[in-house]
Amino acid sequence: MKISVFGLGYVGAVTSGCLSTLGHSVVGVDYSEAKVALINQGKAPVIELDLDKTIGEAVGSGQLSATHDANEAILATDLSLICVGTPSRRNGDLDTSAVKSVCAEIGAALRQKSSWHSVVIRSTVLPGTIRNVVIPELEATSGKKAGVDFGVGSNPEFLREGTALSDFHAPPKTVIGAEDERTGSEIESLYSGIKAPLVRTSIEVAEMIKYSDNVWHALKVAFANEIGIICKSLDVDSHEVMDIFCKDSKLNLSGYYLKPGFSFGGSCLPKDVRALVHKARSLDLDLPLIGSILPSNEKQTTRGLDMILQLGKRPVSILGMSFKAGTDDLRESPILEVIERLLGKGYDIRIFDRNVNLSKLVGANREYLLRMIPHVSSLLVDSLDAALLHGEVVVIGNGDPEFRSIAPRIRQDQFVVDLVRIQDRGTLDGQYDGISW
Ligand SMILES: NC(=O)c1ccc[n+]([C@@H]2O[C@H](COP(=O)([O-])OP(=O)(O)OC[C@H]3O[C@@H](n4cnc5c(N)ncnc54)[C@H](O)[C@@H]3O)[C@@H](O)[C@H]2O)c1
Repeated sequence: MKISVFGLGYVGAVTSGCLSTLGHSVVGVDYSEAKVALINQGKAPVIELDLDKTIGEAVGSGQLSATHDANEAILATDLSLICVGTPSRRNGDLDTSAVKSVCAEIGAALRQKSSWHSVVIRSTVLPGTIRNVVIPELEATSGKKAGVDFGVGSNPEFLREGTALSDFHAPPKTVIGAEDERTGSEIESLYSGIKAPLVRTSIEVAEMIKYSDNVWHALKVAFANEIGIICKSLDVDSHEVMDIFCKDSKLNLSGYYLKPGFSFGGSCLPKDVRALVHKARSLDLDLPLIGSILPSNEKQTTRGLDMILQLGKRPVSILGMSFKAGTDDLRESPILEVIERLLGKGYDIRIFDRNVNLSKLVGANREYLLRMIPHVSSLLVDSLDAALLHGEVVVIGNGDPEFRSIAPRIRQDQFVVDLVRIQDRGTLDGQYDGISW
């Protein structure tokens, strides 16, 4: 393919060099005369392992050249990758001014071009940037329509500096966000020589992926560092702890616990986080990340409660009372907290949970339930039908598979509050809200 790459910094230089080695014909564009000159001399404009050699060979074979003339680059190519910087503003906001100004240059060039051209954003931009900044700027300056006269897509970059070239050839994934099929397929064919899981999705999901990835990576570093601080104070070898931690790919390094939903609860997680936070405090350790876990969890419980209160409807039926399906353990179940606060506000509530039978509950579990809701026996119903009959608001509190089938049984006057994503809004559009979706 004939490709123009806008911005010849770390991402643009690596992308230009590597796409050339895949056989594409690449024109790099930067307003820095120095960077353009370096590329045209076959030299890397940034320090990165093997980049000098790659760019030298690509320029030598005529696969790669550079210019500061956006117009010339657009007219000579079929697809542009925008790799300009998106730094932080002083207030932390993302500065998209370079993306906007490069779009103005590309749009002006597109005005003179009669053939199709795809514009692909590789810079890291917040969800909504392509729809609200990139597309309007391209349309205003070109006088053309996105998706009709030219294509727009998102293709975030996952390279790590220092191993950028090997990451380019073996990325963890290739993510392509595009609305029109043509742009999506063109981006896909850019990487046809690369073996990596490929995901086609919407533009907004592709934009967001990069943030969830990078915030997750940052969270991992901060978490490991805080575990290290507490280990050191307790004279425990932090590296041995984390080596063993990392061997667990079932619960620790896995997709488990990583779907948005309701607060965590049960007899272990809240208790154990609380104990470690208390221990750190007693050792005069400041662990802002680990210390923020319980407040974050409580916030999610309050969000669930607010969703119900804001509907201004009552009575309420709660489906699922234990913190997860398939158990009768009610200790620190967050939905109990919601029920308790609703009762305090005078709500008329019925609860259905197939696994919770008051006569069979014993010990700490029973004590906890009766302390939270002393007259719970008068609220429990023994069938899903009885629960569905009662409430104008139906709250799905845990992921019991039985609750998946409720959509056809929801009346016109009822509203479903889903705390666990037991179902998509589907047929319940207008009568359904999910806590984080
Ligand atoms: N550096 C990384 O490891 C990395 C990894 C993944 C994603 N990203 C993202 O990729 C984007 C680029 O990052 P970077 O580190 O390569 O940035 P960088 O600052 O190294 O390079 C940006 C380049 O864009 C050029 N530029 C700015 N405005 C221009 C314009 N109007 N026309 C032509 N060129 C212009 C600048 O001169 C500069 O050479 C950012 O959004 C960043 O968040 C970076």
